[in-house]
Amino acid sequence: MVELLPVSELISNHPAHIRESFHPDYEKGAGFVIDKVKPLQETNIPITDLGFMRADAVYDVVTVSRGKFFKLENHQKRFARSCSRMRLTNPYNSDQEAKILNDLVAKTGLKDAFVWWCVTRGSNPNFPSDRLNPNKFNNRFFAFAVPYIFIKEDKDKVKGINLYISQDYIRIPPGSIDPRAKNFCQLDLAMSLFEAGDHGANWSVLSDGEGALVEAPGCNIFVVKDNQISTPNIGCLEGITRETTIELATEMNLIVKTRRVTIEELQSADEVFLTSSAGGILPVSFLSGEQFGEGVGPITKQIHNLYWKKRWDGWEAQDVDYLGGEN
Ligand SMILES: Cc1ncc(COP(=O)(O)O)c(C=O)c1O
Repeated sequence: MVELLPVSELISNHPAHIRESFHPDYEKGAGFVIDKVKPLQETNIPITDLGFMRADAVYDVVTVSRGKFFKLENHQKRFARSCSRMRLTNPYNSDQEAKILNDLVAKTGLKDAFVWWCVTRGSNPNFPSDRLNPNKFNNRFFAFAVPYIFIKEDKDKVKGINLYISQDYIRIPPGSIDPRAKNFCQLDLAMSLFEAGDHGANWSVLSDGEGALVEAPGCNIFVVKDNQISTPNIGCLEGITRETTIELATEMNLIVKTRRVTIEELQSADEVFLTSSAGGILPVSFLSGEQFGEGVGPITKQIHNLYWKKRWDGWEAQDVDYLGGEN
């Protein structure tokens, strides 16, 4: 019987995760504001930036474990697509961006990091008529690196998440805001988490309002039925962990489908799991408090373990240059 790798425990105790030396100012993390690296606690945002005022921004998150970025290039490419979908111009090219992200991690010495970056619209131009032209804005770049963030701890993963299907909220439809652009408009997801909490659950999932599942806060969703794995194909972010899961499941000779997945299929699935850079594969065992199946299923466990084993073996990895941060 396969058991889930205790990932948070390993990150806390295994020697491969011991932090490199760092200046004490960077203990909590490092930030990059427009053009300067700063200790996290010294970062600030220009208050009239439309990213802050109107959620007018796109972002991405890449993670580092055992001193290696995972699929950095895929994250950077997705970020470039997010920028172009929302007519934002990244002030930095992709090499400069990769160096900024590397140097932030290097400053902190972290072997396991959550690395976030965004481009915001910037402040409104001086003349109201210029608001009609995206080229009249000075788009801004911000980033930070902090210790790895897990959506759920080992103990919650072993038990399996209690997932609540939101009744009060549907995900912003693709015709309003393209969810493939990783953007700041997420109050639907945030409110659904509070709704889940009110019902004693510990995560939520949203539908499109017409019976199809879309995504969860910070996560994509997968259902397993008769050894076939399915994940929604529209209305959601094209998650890098989702893409990775599809690769791993294919390697395991499972049939994988990206297609419309209904709420009924979720309710009658053999296994369910969420995927996110913030934690990898997150098993689900309860739907609105009711346990389904026998708890965390065998396919979920295998994909979870394979994900971490392959990452730590250096699959799709890029070493952090810890000396880079000194330049
Ligand atoms: C809304 C949403 N869906 C899905 C995901 C999962 O994407 P990834 O696997 O690239 O982290 C995220 C990640 O933050 C997200 O915010």
